[in-house]
Amino acid sequence: MKNPEYKYLKYNINNYISTLFINREKYLNALSKDIIVELIDFYNWVDNNKNIKVIIMTGAGDKAFVAGADIKEMSRLDLSKSKSYAALGQKLTLIIENLSKPVIAAINGYALGGGCEIAIACHIRYASTNSKFAQPEVGLGLIAGFGGTQRLSRLIGKGMALELLLSGKMINAEEALRIKLVNKIIDNNILLEECYVLADKIKNNSPIAIRHTIKAVNQGESMDIEEALDVESDLFSKVFHSSDCREGLKAFLNKTKPEFLGN
Ligand code: CAA
Repeated sequence: MKNPEYKYLKYNINNYISTLFINREKYLNALSKDIIVELIDFYNWVDNNKNIKVIIMTGAGDKAFVAGADIKEMSRLDLSKSKSYAALGQKLTLIIENLSKPVIAAINGYALGGGCEIAIACHIRYASTNSKFAQPEVGLGLIAGFGGTQRLSRLIGKGMALELLLSGKMINAEEALRIKLVNKIIDNNILLEECYVLADKIKNNSPIAIRHTIKAVNQGESMDIEEALDVESDLFSKVFHSSDCREGLKAFLNKTKPEFLGN
């Protein structure tokens, strides 16, 4: 089947790793509705593509990851469409969060509003030294609508999340690292390279184990610990029955490299 083509996205696939660029550099990769729709389509396609095991998501150019939802477009939004508009952005962040393959956000500049919300839906965040983060919606008379009011406090704690969501203030990469909004800071010119090194390590692991790890972490997040541990042991048992598990255990004992088939 032919790989899909998009107006606002560019991507490549190399060694089971897909690097995706949101490609609207002139507007700092601000998310129009069309881009959100394309991103949903891309991630649905990736989820079922055996040639892609890890995704690195970044913004075109060297200034922005994503500078938020498209404010011009939002200003023209029919009032009756506002709930479905937020629902569309939430659908995208949910698809990313629950994808069966890891998504690494390579944050290469501004990650504002919807851009920060997309970044926090990704599984791992590496940020360039020039990256900047904010949830500026309150200054526009809005609230974060693509999952920010919910995911941010789960990631960095309620106090810090409220500080960002209520002030709209912009923080730099060092502060983002300090509050654990990002995992690592990397020089701008080697950001993608470093993400690639991590992606390469991930892609050598069992796809079944990766998928079930994401599921266990996501499902358990909103449960009490006993219920969450129950989910973990169920998924552990499921993975234990996979041929990937047989292969992994056997390879260790034989001192060989495992060849995971993802089943
Ligand atoms: N929407 C639409 N256009 C945007 C945009 C956005 N979020 N961010 C930047 N742009 C456009 C600018 O309007 C400008 O276009 P023009 O040349 O046609 O004027 C172009 O991108 C370049 O931007 P600037 O000239 O402003 O660049 P700068 O370096 O001076 O400033 C910035 C950079 C501080 C990021 C500034 O562009 C900015 O504040 N952008 C808006 C950020 C924001 O508020 N994002 C949140 C959006 S709301 C949201 O996301 C809601 C939600 O949760 C769903």
